[in-house]
Amino acid sequence: MISPVPLGTWPTPLEPAPRLAAALGIDKLWIKRDDLCGLGAGGNKVRKLQYSCAQALAAGATTLITSGGPQSNHARLTAAAAARLGLRSVLVLAGDEPDRPRGNLILDRLAGAEIVWAGSAPLEQIAAAEAQRRPRSHLIPFGGTSPASALAYVDCARELTRQLPELDQVVVAVGSGGTMAGLVAELGAERVLGVDTGATPDPYAAVGAVLDGMRQPPARLTIDRSQIGAGYHALTEPVREALKLAARTEGLFLDPTYTGRALAALIARHAAHGLSREGRVVFLHSGGLPGLFGHPEV
Ligand SMILES: Cc1ncc(COP(=O)(O)O)c(C=O)c1O
Repeated sequence: MISPVPLGTWPTPLEPAPRLAAALGIDKLWIKRDDLCGLGAGGNKVRKLQYSCAQALAAGATTLITSGGPQSNHARLTAAAAARLGLRSVLVLAGDEPDRPRGNLILDRLAGAEIVWAGSAPLEQIAAAEAQRRPRSHLIPFGGTSPASALAYVDCARELTRQLPELDQVVVAVGSGGTMAGLVAELGAERVLGVDTGATPDPYAAVGAVLDGMRQPPARLTIDRSQIGAGYHALTEPVREALKLAARTEGLFLDPTYTGRALAALIARHAAHGLSREGRVVFLHSGGLPGLFGHPEV
């Protein structure tokens, strides 16, 4: 097995969030600050890129290629990781070039990424074609997720267990599924609540496939699908409220697509069923703040 290439600063902090907990009526709430891991404005993709980049370097690659939406956090962090490692980066992004770059796209350009606009063509097909025609390139899958890179969140779960041995539940946004899969592999499905962001049509299948690739037994996953609203790109009212609440109680900034949805789900589930009084809940801050400045409705 290839060792991860260091790209961030670990362990990330685990911070208590007493004012947010009180506002929600939850006894004990912590924030795992994976947004504060160092590289390229941080986020969960850094841990996964440590594994993907190790594979790329082992194969002698000089260019990293990946794909995503125009506000992809994974694309931005791939560009940052490439810069850190002295590699080139090519980002295949959905749609057409906007008149004015915003949010993550500005950071992609600052980091020197070459951007290929896919229009309405299937992203992964275009990315594969780009990799075909560029010698010594390494293709990182959509969202940076593979059974190998999901080991990054096994690492994170071990870190968390050291920081809070009695932890009951981790709440995490689900996109391509690797982050949740890694947490489930280490903590068990009953201690992980995934929150669907609408990034993939079937998040159960996405997370299940990664677990399968990690040779994990089938798990009874819990994924909250109540926060998708009008779709992945939509900003919903509960998410807007969650962003305000985190900022106004803890000075904590979340993003509208991932962490905002995850907190909105936590709020809604606690209001509907309550969490156990002894519940020690960890909210995973998986980064994504630059996306706030690229979001059309904010
Ligand atoms: C900020 C943020 N949080 C969470 C996720 C979800 O991670 P995963 O793709 O591993 O499910 C993403 C994925 O793009 C993300 O950018």
